[in-house]
Amino acid sequence: MKKALLPLLLIIPAACTQTPKNTEKSYPIVDSLLRVMTLEEKVGQTVLFTSDWTVTGPSIRQGYIEDIRAGRCGSIFNAYTAEYTRKLQEVAVNETRLGIPLLFGYDVIHGFRTIFPINLGMSCTWNPGAIERSARVAAKEAAAAGLHWTYSPMCDICMEPRWGRISEGAGEDPYLGSLIAAAMTRGYQGKDLAADTTVLACVKHYAAYGAPIAGRDYNTVDMSERWLREYYLPPYKAAIKAGALSVMASFNELDGIPATANRHLLQDILRDEWGFTGFVVTDYTGIPEMVFHGYADDDEDAGRLAMNAGVDMDMQGAAYMNYLADLVRSGAVKESTLNEAVRRILTVKAKLGLFEDPYRYCSPEREKSQTLTQENKAEARAVAAESMVLLKNDGVLPLKKGVKTAVIGALAASKDDLLGSWRGAGEVESVPASILDAIKEVTPVVYAEGCQEEGEDRSGFAAALAAARGASQVVLVIGEDCQWSGEAASRSDIHIPGVQSELLEKLAAAGKKVAVVLLNGRPLDLSAESETAGAILEAWYPGTMGGYAVADVLFGDVNPNGKLSVTFPRTLGQVPIYHYAKNTGRPYRYTGAKYESRYLDVPNEPLYAFGHGLSYTTFKYSPITLSADNFSGSGNLEARITVTNTGTCEGIETVQMYIRDLVGSVTRPVKQLKGFTKIALRPGESREICFTIDRCTLSFYRADMTWGPESGGFKIMIGGSSDNVQEASFSYEE
Ligand code: BGC
Repeated sequence: MKKALLPLLLIIPAACTQTPKNTEKSYPIVDSLLRVMTLEEKVGQTVLFTSDWTVTGPSIRQGYIEDIRAGRCGSIFNAYTAEYTRKLQEVAVNETRLGIPLLFGYDVIHGFRTIFPINLGMSCTWNPGAIERSARVAAKEAAAAGLHWTYSPMCDICMEPRWGRISEGAGEDPYLGSLIAAAMTRGYQGKDLAADTTVLACVKHYAAYGAPIAGRDYNTVDMSERWLREYYLPPYKAAIKAGALSVMASFNELDGIPATANRHLLQDILRDEWGFTGFVVTDYTGIPEMVFHGYADDDEDAGRLAMNAGVDMDMQGAAYMNYLADLVRSGAVKESTLNEAVRRILTVKAKLGLFEDPYRYCSPEREKSQTLTQENKAEARAVAAESMVLLKNDGVLPLKKGVKTAVIGALAASKDDLLGSWRGAGEVESVPASILDAIKEVTPVVYAEGCQEEGEDRSGFAAALAAARGASQVVLVIGEDCQWSGEAASRSDIHIPGVQSELLEKLAAAGKKVAVVLLNGRPLDLSAESETAGAILEAWYPGTMGGYAVADVLFGDVNPNGKLSVTFPRTLGQVPIYHYAKNTGRPYRYTGAKYESRYLDVPNEPLYAFGHGLSYTTFKYSPITLSADNFSGSGNLEARITVTNTGTCEGIETVQMYIRDLVGSVTRPVKQLKGFTKIALRPGESREICFTIDRCTLSFYRADMTWGPESGGFKIMIGGSSDNVQEASFSYEE
């Protein structure tokens, strides 16, 4: 390894659930405004329209400048640049009766100008600190361009690879997902929301949008309240606990009620239980969509249902703009309900400092000096390398420098795909190098396109084979076009598309050990490729500096240390597949017995388990030593394990701790992630790791839906992957 690895030691405490304190302070400006606002002006504050720069769905209204001028629209999204937002802000401040400043929102999802890896990739760093820093960079760049508000973090737990938006989240695990949701929130909002370098976070898509039936976007969601609370709600809650002051209601229904009119979600849980004090916005045209759901008669009815359920702001639906004043006049919506919504929105505007200086965020100077800086790009390159997961390696990687290398695949030469979907204001022109360009900087290269990501065209195979034959090492970059994941990008097939895998087979049949680099936004069925490839590096869509980051890992300047945050199935037939499955009454015991919970045609185990990820070195785990074999009440127990670097180079390992509660008042998963630690070890170096287990670590929703532990026996598992662990047992007395 060339670069020195950071001697980082990151102990992540086990998650604990507490209700946040309501620390709401009131702003005199908000009270004064509410006293003088007309009904129409109040309604205007609940209206959010898109600018016509970028449109992510049907744009139902033109002429938004007129709406701003008339006080009919209090917030705008998809407008950016310091100059443009200032122009719009001037209309609101100078040309409306009360001069209330606009709030500018944008989808800053994995970077604004400097694009970081897609969020699923970022989650594979298992490094909340790095994720927080990336959100901080994004916030700085966005805030300089006039933006106040990002529609992130996306907190949707997902175990459904067909769903294209799995790429936007942190994978399948609520514990890891919660740490990441909180880290992103801190990164965006910082310590001072009014600073000109921080932006308001928006927790989305609340709730359970990541569980659409059959993986089809916007589809029905239905799950038990217990499952919802235990596995799906924690990341949203963690972001709110970290201070997020806006929440986006999801498109889906839950238990038959669209989230946009779901009082149970928006009032009982979000506000009453979690103490959320910010405002709730719809996801795009979520209000009128309730007519299509078959939940509202018409847009007016939908507006009534949404406002009465606790939705404060209507994004692009125009239902509030068109009907809310009449709904209040008729008594269908109480004026006090509208007042409350307006108060929440104005309070957030006050917290952002907009009443003090509405132009605070529009700074052409900062826009120039803080955007795409060397530091931002260095951060993006480091995180991109850290997000990559080495799925397989038969000794092919790291590659040698200075040796003739065949680089094959259309994706190898693509700068555009590196950015992934939801790329903020990231531009292809800012990407300094494709993977091909970056490899060329370290070794002599012969390039052949081979084939495109899609289609049946095999005419480039011969040239690719010739290139491979004439080279000492072969890199094949394959995967999905970057627009094959993200919103409205569900797939019914999770194989690598087109003839890309066939090309891999041909190269392997020609006797070549191929290093496959994958660019994709979801877990794929890699059963065939895992047989034929010499190595597989999952690179996701690694962002602006992704070309260099891939080369850093391929040539060993960075030792790969990403771990999967989501399970890779052997076949779509195993989906949903996730590491916190339960035992069932007929667990599979591999005895050949027929009546066990299994498939006839494939093993139960996934191809690559949650937590899996190889390194160029190897790690050995000692047995677990427990400080005691039982503990009780509010006491605790320490579990120690020694990890040794048994290879020949420095490496970083993510030590993962899982718990199983053997018997419960409701059945418990066979394993559940409860802690992890990232450590750097030199060759031959050992380090003892200590995890503390307390009642919080053992807590869950018991039969009566209270949160807490139960007395009984437990298993603790520690290892470098959910399917490769040491085990020990202990008991707990409540
Ligand atoms: C997406 C949201 C996004 C919004 C605004 C919707 O289509 O579901 O994630 O924040 O558009 O662009």
